[in-house]
Amino acid sequence: MSKEFKRTLITTALPYANGPVHIGHLAGVYVPADIYARYLRLKGEEVLLIGGSDEHGVPITIKAKKEGVTPQDIVDRYHNIIKDSFEGLGISFDVYGRTTSETHRKTASDFFRRLYDKGEFVEKTSMQLYDEEAGQFLADRYVTGTCPHCGNEHAYGDQCEACGTSLNATDLINPKSAITGNVPVMKETSHWYLPLDKWQKPLEKWILEDHKEWKSNVYGQCKSWLDMGLQPRAVSRDLDWGIPVPVEGADGKVLYVWFDAPIGYISNTIDLVGDDYTKWWKDPETRMLHFIGKDNIVFHCIVFPAMLMADGSFNLPDNVPANEFLNLEDDKISTSRNWAVWLHEYLEDFPGKQDVLRYVLTANAPETKDNNFTWKDFQARNNSELVAILGNFVNRAVVLTHKYFDGVVPAAGELQDVDNALINEIRKLKAEMTEALDTFHFREALKLAMDMARAGNKYLQETEPWKIAKTDMERTATVLNIAIQTCANLSIAFEPFLPFMSAKLINMLGEGKISWDMLGNFDIVPAGAKIGEPELLFEKIEDAPIDAQVQKLLDTKKANEMAAWKPEEVKPVCSFDDFEKVDIRVGKVLECNKVKKSKKLLQFLIEDGMGQRTILSGIALSYEDPSVLVGKEICFIANFEPRKMMGIESQGMILSAVNSDGKLVVIGPTGPVAPGASVG
Ligand code: 2FM
Ligand code: ZN
Repeated sequence: MSKEFKRTLITTALPYANGPVHIGHLAGVYVPADIYARYLRLKGEEVLLIGGSDEHGVPITIKAKKEGVTPQDIVDRYHNIIKDSFEGLGISFDVYGRTTSETHRKTASDFFRRLYDKGEFVEKTSMQLYDEEAGQFLADRYVTGTCPHCGNEHAYGDQCEACGTSLNATDLINPKSAITGNVPVMKETSHWYLPLDKWQKPLEKWILEDHKEWKSNVYGQCKSWLDMGLQPRAVSRDLDWGIPVPVEGADGKVLYVWFDAPIGYISNTIDLVGDDYTKWWKDPETRMLHFIGKDNIVFHCIVFPAMLMADGSFNLPDNVPANEFLNLEDDKISTSRNWAVWLHEYLEDFPGKQDVLRYVLTANAPETKDNNFTWKDFQARNNSELVAILGNFVNRAVVLTHKYFDGVVPAAGELQDVDNALINEIRKLKAEMTEALDTFHFREALKLAMDMARAGNKYLQETEPWKIAKTDMERTATVLNIAIQTCANLSIAFEPFLPFMSAKLINMLGEGKISWDMLGNFDIVPAGAKIGEPELLFEKIEDAPIDAQVQKLLDTKKANEMAAWKPEEVKPVCSFDDFEKVDIRVGKVLECNKVKKSKKLLQFLIEDGMGQRTILSGIALSYEDPSVLVGKEICFIANFEPRKMMGIESQGMILSAVNSDGKLVVIGPTGPVAPGASVG
């Protein structure tokens, strides 16, 4: 923190309400923001965690059109699904609003109008793509075409997802309307632009000089935008879904979604605290943090700050700890390809296991580079870390306290070196955790919390209370008191990361209110207190549910391949005479075996009506067990020029069709036909 602040306002990117949220969202934005908010609350700081749905923008209208419903129907549906998912996973929002709310319409509208009245916009007329059949201008995702930078043929009018470049619809080569598929025409329209170039110098000073402490991925992206030189950006669109531009004569024009969405952070604060919002947005003693994914960096570090500077009365963010992306099973998460673990499905498939997902996503957080989620790693981290280290330690401490002291925490006697070593270790880890959390290094902080549990296990291994209980109850009492205090420490250290586990543990130990200050104390649970029955904090995850998830993804991959599959183009016209030259016959497979030393070849023995013949076919990779073809009627080319392969003469060619997954399937008649019959 570069200066002292009184309170912290934490915002989280508002997800588009045009689909559910997935583990990539959670890992990149919401879990880190929640960890940080919970940590600050534990420190007793004043903090707000702001979230909500981004309910405008073209993708929502396209989805509505596709489904034959209204955009409002779409956002109502997904706002609720998303909100429930976040709640289910323990993301502790103070408010979760919507950009279709009346508060937001007014806040965004007023914001625009203030800038308009101050002369902060430039009104410009330009030629834009227009779909004559739909009677609509084609901005952003309403138009697709070839990216001028990388040649991707499926780039959108606002961005190429292949190379990440942000585009204007008019940049696209061979543009096509996403509504009708028509080639658009150019038509004149006028829009309001925010002259970002005017803010170039102040932004350079604010980011490049005053915020050198920002994460290098964020700082680097900002620097490259600033180095390229900022250009004016249109803040309005010709659309019928959005907040109307509050200017006379602006009929049919709405605020660009990226103009209104960040103002949603302000509106949602107003919904929560009313007029008190100025304390959170305008008091220089309030620190603002934006938690976002890397695709949102330019909007939060350049465009929104320029809007705030243009207004002049708001705070700028103190930090924007943006994350990179999370991949799933080594492939980019994609909503359109359904390549994702959807949070609402996870909550159904793994009830009561919210913390497992939170743990795995934090341990693998894409903090400095893109990272990967695999179901095997999820299972391994649950079984060998949460169960075997954390759960095991707490369980042993609680079970032993019940066994030797009836669940009443015994008083500690004089401490020995081994006891002090543990206490010092926990205190050292706390200091390191605090440093890691303060600098947004959440994976590191989680690892340090787990090191506390490791230290607890090592302590029990070294002190062996189950052995000393046979001879020395006084020493056993000391060891178990310390073990229980360590459990209480774990309930604090893990609270930001695993709030469900922490609540269970706090309840089991009968702790009162916890705080970050208490972490490192060894008198949290007083001697004489009765603790609850031992309850398992985590349970082993077997192979079956993991295999089911992996299978679900394999099915998705297969479905995507099928959907993407296109038949080959039809070959040039072939005359009847040419066709007549090919003698296709039906044959019956008598034998079918793999050819030794060949990966690809199958050797067929065919009854061809006149006798038998041998045909070799390069389809072995498609038939694991070639004997399934024996007895089948198939089609083959009887007059194909004989060829020798692997020392065997092939007298013909077996006909087969290629499947969407590249597998070859042998072709035959659909009813009984005698071997030797001609096909034509
Ligand atoms: O990228 C997105 O999903 C946007 N809906 C994020 C908006 S963040 C903020 F500005 F609201
Ligand atoms: Zn591109």
